[in-house]
Amino acid sequence: MATYKRPDHFTKAAKARGFPARSVFKLEEIDRRVRLLRAGQKVLDLGCAPGSWSLYTCERIGPTGRLLAVDLQPIAQLLPSNATFIQGDALALAETTLAAHAPYQVVLSDMAPNTTGNRNADQARSYHLYSFALSMAARLGDQGSSFVGKIFMGPDFELAREQTRELFAQVRLIRPEGVRPNSFEIFLVGLEKRTPPLAPLPSPTAPDIP
Ligand SMILES: C[S@@+](CC[C@H](N)C(=O)[O-])C[C@H]1O[C@@H](n2cnc3c(N)ncnc32)[C@H](O)[C@@H]1O
Repeated sequence: MATYKRPDHFTKAAKARGFPARSVFKLEEIDRRVRLLRAGQKVLDLGCAPGSWSLYTCERIGPTGRLLAVDLQPIAQLLPSNATFIQGDALALAETTLAAHAPYQVVLSDMAPNTTGNRNADQARSYHLYSFALSMAARLGDQGSSFVGKIFMGPDFELAREQTRELFAQVRLIRPEGVRPNSFEIFLVGLEKRTPPLAPLPSPTAPDIP
């Protein structure tokens, strides 16, 4: 992924508020525009490092909510006690950890591939991660639940939007102000999932989160 040496105004503002990364402003704007997060919800955060979305979500869902946050990378950010962080490949955890804690009222994915500079290849990999996240929303999201997924703009975008429309009664396309001007990323937001979860609900032996 590209690195940015000089902290910009969004980065400084995020740090001043105690968030590890500027990405918090993207979720905050989406939340404000679609009323995404509420107290008591169970939320899955895919691609959570360094932890800004997770921290923001924990604040919004409060002590009665629960967050399961997953990333390939470790996180240094301390999360409140209503959150559980798992380090690993989300795609490999789908049938186990992610399913064990379903159903979720919100599925978030800010997952992004390591970019190579080849725009077509990067977009294809971004679509692959997006599709996986959407499949998690389909299988593990409650009826009426919401979804936020990041995707890089490119040839697969319209397919991604169509697939999201099949699952949700409302689909919004949001490019928050916090997205860097030279970035191809965009967020598809699904609201009011039409169907119940497809995966089995948690068994009595599944560990609770946290
Ligand atoms: C833009 S960052 C997420 C920022 C985060 N939302 C925040 O607010 O701090 C994208 C993350 O996706 C993660 N990621 C990419 N592929 C993944 C996968 N297969 N499983 C889990 N995490 C993944 C990367 O490790 C990276 O940390």
